[in-house]
Amino acid sequence: MPATPYYLIDKSKLLRNMEKIAYVREHSGAKALLALKCFATWSVFDFMSDYMDGTTSSSLYEVKLGREKFGKETHAYSVAYSDGEIGEVIENADKIIFNSISQLTRFGDKASNIVRGLRLNPQVSTSSFDLADPARPFSRLGEWDVTKVEAVMDQISGFMIHNNCENDDFDLFDRMLGNIEQKFGSLLSRVEWVSLGGGIHFTGENYPLDKFCARLRAFAQKFGVQVYLEPGEASITKSTTLEVTVLDTLFNGKNLAIVDSSIEAHMLDLLIYRENAKVLPNTGDHAYMICGKSCLAGDVFGDFNFEHEVKVGDRISIDDAAGYTMVKKNWFNGVGMPSIVIRELDGTERVIREFDFTDFVSSLS
Ligand SMILES: Cc1ncc(COP(=O)(O)O)c(C=O)c1O
Repeated sequence: MPATPYYLIDKSKLLRNMEKIAYVREHSGAKALLALKCFATWSVFDFMSDYMDGTTSSSLYEVKLGREKFGKETHAYSVAYSDGEIGEVIENADKIIFNSISQLTRFGDKASNIVRGLRLNPQVSTSSFDLADPARPFSRLGEWDVTKVEAVMDQISGFMIHNNCENDDFDLFDRMLGNIEQKFGSLLSRVEWVSLGGGIHFTGENYPLDKFCARLRAFAQKFGVQVYLEPGEASITKSTTLEVTVLDTLFNGKNLAIVDSSIEAHMLDLLIYRENAKVLPNTGDHAYMICGKSCLAGDVFGDFNFEHEVKVGDRISIDDAAGYTMVKKNWFNGVGMPSIVIRELDGTERVIREFDFTDFVSSLS
């Protein structure tokens, strides 16, 4: 057993998501690209690539990672490309999606040897977090003015529209797509492909996959387009835990347990969105606040219930720890970086990466 902390990626759990993605591809005709911004732990890409069509990216480095480690279709997108990186992005992508008409105008000719597209912003989204809402006031994420987009239609063959956020409600997805059809229908019938982005929680339990497939197929037929999905969270949800050990316990009006990890350093997204971590089954009479070991006062994973008293040396598994965690981990406080461990389909565990003091030093200068 490796020393904690470590992220434990369980391939049999990952497989459940992959099989649902493969089902959707087969029954809807849509293609599915892994959104690397959410999950870029390339040691499992070989496994995932049997079930998905490729990757989509947010930067030069992600596009290169997708091409090198995942293969298949490689989509490039970025909020803004620089003069210095655009050449290498084009070299490494099959398709490039510009965020604005001005970026398309500036770099479109350079990219004329690959497929080109533009991001559209329907100005409505399912996000309840202002921080993650692509339709927030003054959003820079995509074009919305149909007249302006019409003027550049000769330079593009498709669109990307990302306006769902952890949306597990099929009816809401259906309404969002209806809105897109209404707003951008005249443009959609003039292109060959449309990516509907990520944020659709279709691998979750009880999601009506057949209705989803039928809706995607109807959309594709209506406009004569190849549909793409860009699942990040949906690809890896519930596949991974963060394994930690209790280092100390205190009572300060509440039972506290301090673990050898940090929400700030190792599950930053939860802190940013002010959400609790998940510890299962979260039952029993012993309530503890599980705290990280950084000096940030609010470095708290959450309050959880346990069947037994929590003692120094106990192991705790923080659930659902794959998405927006490993891609955002940092060296705050010099807290030891979790190793990455894969549990194979036969149950054996393999440490694929450990980090030590030299990694900490080399991340600084
Ligand atoms: C353009 C785009 N595609 C895909 C995704 C992946 O979203 P999720 O991880 O919620 O599926 C995002 C997330 O922000 C995105 O901005």
